[in-house]
Amino acid sequence: MEIVHIAAECYPVAKVGGLGDVVGALPKYQNNAGHQVRVVIPHYDTEFINKNEFDTVYSGFVKLGNFNFPFNIQKEKIDILGFELYLVHIPELFDRNEVYGYEDDIERFLSFQMATLDWLNSRSEVPDTIHCHDHHTGLIPFMMKYAYKFEKLRSTPTVITIHNAIYQGQFGFDKLYYLPEFDLSKVTILEWDNKINSLATAIKCATVVSTVSPSFLNEINNFGYGLESLFNQVRHKSRGILNGIDTEVWNPAKDKMLFANYSSKTFENGKQANKVKLCSQFDLDPTKPLFSFIGRLLEEKGADLLPHAAALALSENYKEINILILGSGNTGIENQLSHLVASFKGNYNVFIGYNEALAHQIYAGSDFLLMPSRVEPCGLNQMYAFRYGTIPIVRRTGGLKDTVIDIGDDGNGICHDQPSIEDVCYSIQRGVSLYKDKKSLKNIRKIGMNIDYSWESVCQEYINLYNLKTN
Ligand code: GLC
Repeated sequence: MEIVHIAAECYPVAKVGGLGDVVGALPKYQNNAGHQVRVVIPHYDTEFINKNEFDTVYSGFVKLGNFNFPFNIQKEKIDILGFELYLVHIPELFDRNEVYGYEDDIERFLSFQMATLDWLNSRSEVPDTIHCHDHHTGLIPFMMKYAYKFEKLRSTPTVITIHNAIYQGQFGFDKLYYLPEFDLSKVTILEWDNKINSLATAIKCATVVSTVSPSFLNEINNFGYGLESLFNQVRHKSRGILNGIDTEVWNPAKDKMLFANYSSKTFENGKQANKVKLCSQFDLDPTKPLFSFIGRLLEEKGADLLPHAAALALSENYKEINILILGSGNTGIENQLSHLVASFKGNYNVFIGYNEALAHQIYAGSDFLLMPSRVEPCGLNQMYAFRYGTIPIVRRTGGLKDTVIDIGDDGNGICHDQPSIEDVCYSIQRGVSLYKDKKSLKNIRKIGMNIDYSWESVCQEYINLYNLKTN
């Protein structure tokens, strides 16, 4: 079937978080399974885009109220990623280094959605499914159904996959005139809490709604960031599908970013070799267990707990553990984490920023990965950790609940219930004990390394979703 994915991120073209990983991987596996897959994202000013070659396949203007932005659609020449990649180039709005965080994000992503539809509507063939990801693409199902301009796409099925329900792309009705002309009797569909809400609109209009884990789907019926009643209403057309991981990119046996490669047979030596290098780079002690955190430094990830939890754990286990943090986000959290370095020299360090290669090296060189998330729609880091023989320490929520089982229940990781400093510290303590029990440590690592989280097994679930008849 012909599938078009539309999103704000796609690894390695542009990535901020897990959304990028998913949009960079699922399409590749769908393509390998024999489908015709296209991915459409904005053209940002990123290294990948500047390094590769593109052909212009379509040009037009996107009208946003009184503004007319010229745009073109560029196709990457050789399908280097394993699927057809299309970039929507709107120079005035997207020739910037960052993916998000600008004052005009509403205008940017609305224009992106309209330009994408303009192009798709102009093609002679109509896709079998349009798969939208998160609120940045949330108005697409509505515009396909009700905007006069995109009539050709009216009956094409759509999917909205929710990777994050906190951000909903809300804006005031004063910007309603940005939208292309549509059937005004449908205007209430756009509304949630007196605002235009892109995510809510997608949930109402898409043929199918999916979340990135089954547990997250259950949770949002009760804690749905203001959308609970809506999630309950659309239960009949909602499915929770656990993400996979790209096992080609994430393979410790072949990963070129690592200091040493290893398999599930050679992981003891392999991980130690990576740990020694990593520890020398960050002035840590390779003979002691290494607990790491990788990700965005946001409250939703529980990152605000890290400064206190790290300080407490390091004081309680003076010189007996290492903690290493990689991430960026909230500047308050960044500063607190950086200040700790002076107090715990030799056993604690932090790298503020985004660094893909370092992330791989940390998965390989660490013993435990901390994920004290308040919210985790799926979480990919625990799966990367498993694959690299690193034991996840997670708060039981969303996708973490679906993937990590506590060692007390013969599982593969360490779990706690509260996103609290006490729970994180207690779990680190359990990690210290496990680290001393070399036999159990080895077994648990091996169990994790042998779990199959590849997209190959998940791919068909999405095809079934596209074929779902919801009426
Ligand atoms: C978002 C979620 C994360 C999920 C990822 C990919 O980043 O926070 O839990 O794994 O999207 O779906």
